[in-house]
Amino acid sequence: MRIVLLGAPGSGKGTQGRRLAAHFGVPHVSSGDLLREHVAAGTELGRQVSGYLDRGDLVPDDVVLAIVGEAVMAGVATGGYVLDGYPRTLSQAVDAHRLAVTADVAAEAVVYLDVPDAIARDRLMGRAESRSDDTAVVAERRLAVFHDLTVPLLDYYEARGILARVDGVAAADEVFDAIVAAVVPFARR
Ligand code: AP5
Repeated sequence: MRIVLLGAPGSGKGTQGRRLAAHFGVPHVSSGDLLREHVAAGTELGRQVSGYLDRGDLVPDDVVLAIVGEAVMAGVATGGYVLDGYPRTLSQAVDAHRLAVTADVAAEAVVYLDVPDAIARDRLMGRAESRSDDTAVVAERRLAVFHDLTVPLLDYYEARGILARVDGVAAADEVFDAIVAAVVPFARR
């Protein structure tokens, strides 16, 4: 199964991505996790991107594509992927689709986890002690970037006929069941 998760910061992409990956037996590829691993390890790439993460701005496309692309291709060899946090701009989506079609690894379903900003904010503030980009100021910036640059992807994926909208407000178990029910028909096409 090849799934992309879209949603606001705090919508539950990471929470559901881990569970979906275990359920479908494929890797969970999180662009944010991959970037934070580089920052924590103090790599050259980590030093280049840490300012973007700390501000809540998007890291340049070529940097993200390189690390996500490698992880996705490794995942495809095991049967698929759950991709969380990438793409998040129209240009990333167009680039990703072009490369994925060439390699015959295009996403089968794109799940949008629909969560109001107020709930996303509450969740991010609840996690503020463990993630440095969950301060009120940075969370607002991440939400603004989401609305400006990521929300337009909904029309793009809807036009491709692979978008599933799922209410992300319910308890995590219920959201998980709703996602599985939403994506299975795409895999059977
Ligand atoms: P990234 O890590 O992708 O951050 P994000 O999109 O802001 O998402 P979060 O991880 O904050 O939230 P989530 O939706 O995964 O929710 P989670 O499950 O964690 O990106 C971080 C940064 O990296 C970006 O700002 C950017 O700088 C850079 N970056 C990443 N991708 C990039 C790209 N493609 N291009 C350029 N730059 C990129 O849940 C949040 C909290 O809510 C948790 O505490 C969780 O326990 C709780 N929760 C989850 N679900 C529920 C539920 N159903 N009920 C109650 N609580 C819940």
